[in-house]
Amino acid sequence: MPHSHLRQLPLGARLALVLLNLVLAIGFAASLQHLKWHHENRDERPGLTLDDIRGAYHGIQTTSPIKSALERNHPDTLSPTNRKALLDWLSSPRIAEDYDSLDKGDAAPAEIIRANCLSCHGRAAKATPQGEIAKTIPLDYWDDVKPLAFSRKVEPNSVKVLAASTHTHALSLGTLTIVVCGLLCLTALPRRIVGAICFFASLGLLADFAGWWIARDYDAATYAIVIGGGVYNALMVLSLVVISVDCVWRKSNPKSAT
Ligand code: HEC
Repeated sequence: MPHSHLRQLPLGARLALVLLNLVLAIGFAASLQHLKWHHENRDERPGLTLDDIRGAYHGIQTTSPIKSALERNHPDTLSPTNRKALLDWLSSPRIAEDYDSLDKGDAAPAEIIRANCLSCHGRAAKATPQGEIAKTIPLDYWDDVKPLAFSRKVEPNSVKVLAASTHTHALSLGTLTIVVCGLLCLTALPRRIVGAICFFASLGLLADFAGWWIARDYDAATYAIVIGGGVYNALMVLSLVVISVDCVWRKSNPKSAT
């Protein structure tokens, strides 16, 4: 095992490094939370999903499942008038407001759905072999219909926002990573492991930033953002732990080093 250069530092300096590592750890935890809060609602579904990240960097466009079902002539029992009424409703900006509109009477979407869909998509629908699948997509209430009614178009962050974010993050994280990798080199961790951590953390960071820009045109680069960012953050936190332990763990300190 190579000996630790960090352990040769004065106690105060080593403790300072541990404290600063804690500061950085808080910073990483905060950026994770920020990431979650900042992105989680982009796809209008709870929690941080891949689509949230995709939405931010590439943009997403999805069609309402009810709309696509109607467009592929499902169910074939629906009259053209009712199909058109439902499609018009789903294309309007008043999907929530008009769902149960009293003015529309029997032509209200809720009524059309009740009369034409609930025989299969109702919680109380008779369970035919085919109907079993339909019952897993209940349409009884607005709360059932709502997540299937909206077509979503999410614009990616503007180029200006992306440039502002890249310029602060690339410079600060790049610098931070050089420092952390440098400190890691001064620990007693076996050289190959140090090398691997430094290499993959840097590769992850580069993949993350490159992904931000490439994902605008190529959706697949979203994975580079997620995987690169994940690998980077994990290795940085690991490095902070290794450096902190190395600073205070005097037991394995070779006699020659002191
Ligand atoms: C005769 C039974 C029946 C009726 C009536 C019916 N459905 Fe379905 N529906 C199904 C079945 C079975 C499936 C699952 C298989 C499939 O996708 O075709 C399904 C699937 C769906 C899906 C999911 C499709 C997807 O791509 O994810 C939606 C949305 C849907 N139906 C909406 C409706 C609406 C709206 C109505 C009324 C206008 C309606 N259905 C009437 C049987 C029915």
